[in-house]
Amino acid sequence: MRPRKYLWALCLSLVYANPSPGIDEPENANHIFNGIQSTLRHYEMAINPYGMAFHLATVQKGTRFYHGTSKPEPVIGVEWLAFTPDKSLRYARESNWNAKRDIQQPLNIPRAGYLHTYAAAKDLRLLYIDGHSAGLGGHMEAQDRILFNDTIANPPPRPHSPVNAGPHENERVFQTCRMVKEEWGGRIDGIVRTENDFEIILCDFGRDLDVVKITQTNANGGEPRRPARGDCCSIATKYNQLLGHKVHLDFDHFVTAFGYGLDLFPGGSDHPVLDNIPTELLEPVRRDINTMVNTLEPPVGAFDWQAVADMIVFRYSDDLLNFAAGGFTSVESLRDSIEVLMEVFIDYRDFGAKDEIVKLCQGEFIPTSAPVESVGGRVVSSISKKVCSTLASGLLDDMDLKDTVDSFKQLVEYLNWTTWKAE
Ligand SMILES: *[C@@H]1O[C@H](CO)[C@@H](O)[C@H](O)[C@H]1NC(C)=O
Ligand SMILES: *[C@@H]1O[C@H](CO)[C@@H](O)[C@H](O)[C@H]1NC(C)=O
Repeated sequence: MRPRKYLWALCLSLVYANPSPGIDEPENANHIFNGIQSTLRHYEMAINPYGMAFHLATVQKGTRFYHGTSKPEPVIGVEWLAFTPDKSLRYARESNWNAKRDIQQPLNIPRAGYLHTYAAAKDLRLLYIDGHSAGLGGHMEAQDRILFNDTIANPPPRPHSPVNAGPHENERVFQTCRMVKEEWGGRIDGIVRTENDFEIILCDFGRDLDVVKITQTNANGGEPRRPARGDCCSIATKYNQLLGHKVHLDFDHFVTAFGYGLDLFPGGSDHPVLDNIPTELLEPVRRDINTMVNTLEPPVGAFDWQAVADMIVFRYSDDLLNFAAGGFTSVESLRDSIEVLMEVFIDYRDFGAKDEIVKLCQGEFIPTSAPVESVGGRVVSSISKKVCSTLASGLLDDMDLKDTVDSFKQLVEYLNWTTWKAE
């Protein structure tokens, strides 16, 4: 086991390949923060679908997954695993229709597919690709350009396709398992991605999964009941969100393309774009992903920076929006509202002690034991500091009403939290 200090140092160099000297705030801290807060959550990821991050991930031994197919025998090699039975049931039926067509069976004979229920036979070690990184209409740029090193666009013919999903997706699956073997020495077992569901591409079903049950599906069953898209408040949707908990991510050390001085927002684009970036400029990101996979242990005790990001967002979201909206009759009334929010950080014997107030506020949700020098730690701490110092300035800096409101407008625009997208 390597000393943790080494890991942090390594990871700082992983993400901050091009640190800007003297700047305390990591490059693109706002975008990385929103990535941390959105990750493995459907609603938030629909707002921020362009994932730029790659994390090591684990799934605990015994966790259940599903796979739908036309075949009753357990899968041996590479295949997809779904987090919910819904999607697999659909595949079980669809694959059966395809099978029927392929072997020219009369279409009027209903035949069921099979739902395979598996449990992880060991703690699975995976690479998580952030964003809407799977499925039709997904955003595959980050994996295709960075992880798969521009090999997906024109896939060469493969003698034997492991899965049956169209040439590009087949190539991703092929490359995943090739890299697992040739570049990562089997240190990980597959990749995790998100579409409307979460899914794993697992390279060795036979080795890594135990069969719990293989059931025949209802041949005449209709489309399984699924939550309607955009119905973000239903219990079923919330339940789907929570399934992200089957995977545990490393937020301390991860690689994000936001940290390499790349021009990801060409011409003021409203979302990050990789298209225009020459492949050589992506090499450092690729190398760092390989270094991460080849040197770091998967996250068993990694600190949960997503939980801290949530607490910050939920504590300040409404108030910041309110301050930025500027519906105050005087700067005093705005300061009064800020003071209510900041009261717990103020020592009234020394009201103007701004640095003290910012420090106390910044650390409110960050346990002293948290690895604040890690990637997640630096990003979350810097966003927390930005929020707290804007609030403290609004309270103490003697700005007029317009300047104070403007400072909150700028902050809200910069932070661009998912909580402000609902309306
Ligand atoms: C905020 O985020 C949304 C969704 O990612 C994006 O479309 C929008 O352009 C962003 N706004 C700013 C000011 O960056
Ligand atoms: C990406 O592909 C290029 C061209 O084939 C190759 O030179 C380079 O080493 C590859 N990068 C990695 C990280 O494998």
